[in-house]
Amino acid sequence: MKLGRLNHVGVAVPDLAKAIAFWRETMGAAQVGEPFAMTEQGVLVCFMEMPGGGTQIELLAPLPGHCPIRAFLERNPLGGQHHLAFEVPDIAEARAAFEGMGKRVLGPTRMGAHGTPVFFIHPKDMEGVLTEIMESPR
Ligand code: CO
Repeated sequence: MKLGRLNHVGVAVPDLAKAIAFWRETMGAAQVGEPFAMTEQGVLVCFMEMPGGGTQIELLAPLPGHCPIRAFLERNPLGGQHHLAFEVPDIAEARAAFEGMGKRVLGPTRMGAHGTPVFFIHPKDMEGVLTEIMESPR
């Protein structure tokens, strides 16, 4: 298995509108996508491209009710870096490879925010980094 590019950095935020304003006005985010709900994950998601291109920022805010982002924000009230997402050409092959290395994959492979399948690997097996592996968007 060969890991591809860093697709995005996931950032948990308590207030999506405030965070979008920060990334746009202070950090110069060029293209800010329309926020959308991923109801199964209990999150509002907004992707943005930075002016230099390349890696995106994924803002994650909790919808009402329990979700992993809300739990993260209870530990980190200001929000913060949540996960790194790397692309792979073949999600099933990548999952088998990480499982073969004894990494704890969290839950089933599911459809991700880019419309391609993704899975997450436990930070305790990834030097402290919650890691998303996603199939490359076509
Ligand atoms: Co992500």
